[in-house]
Amino acid sequence: MADWITVASADEITPGIPKVIDVDGTLIAVFNIDGEYYAIEDVCTHDGGLLTGGKIECDVIICPRHGARFCIKTGAALSAPAYEATTTFPVRVQGAQIQVQDTRWD
Ligand code: FES
Repeated sequence: MADWITVASADEITPGIPKVIDVDGTLIAVFNIDGEYYAIEDVCTHDGGLLTGGKIECDVIICPRHGARFCIKTGAALSAPAYEATTTFPVRVQGAQIQVQDTRWD
C-alpha cells in the first residue's frame, strides 16, 4: 500500500487556489472546496495540458487550453473535448497537514 505524502499545511490550500506537487514525476493538484480537500492529476485527458491555471467554478475546473470541464471531486470529464476522467488520489487531513496517497500502483 502506498505511503501517505504530506503536501501542505491545511492553511496553505485556500479555496480557488490549488497547490501542485510533483510525486515521482506525476503532478498532483490539491484543491480546497468548501473546507474539503480533493486531489487530481494535473493533466487534461484531451491533450495532456495542465489543468491548473484554468478557471474553477465550484467543484469544476475548466482546462485553460480548449475548455474541457472536469469534476474536481471525481476527476470525471464533464464536457468535450475530453472524454476520459483524470486520475484522482485519496486525501486526508492529519492534524494540520494535508496528505495524499498515490494508489495507482497498489
Ligand atoms: S488540453 Fe485540455 S481541453 Fe484540450
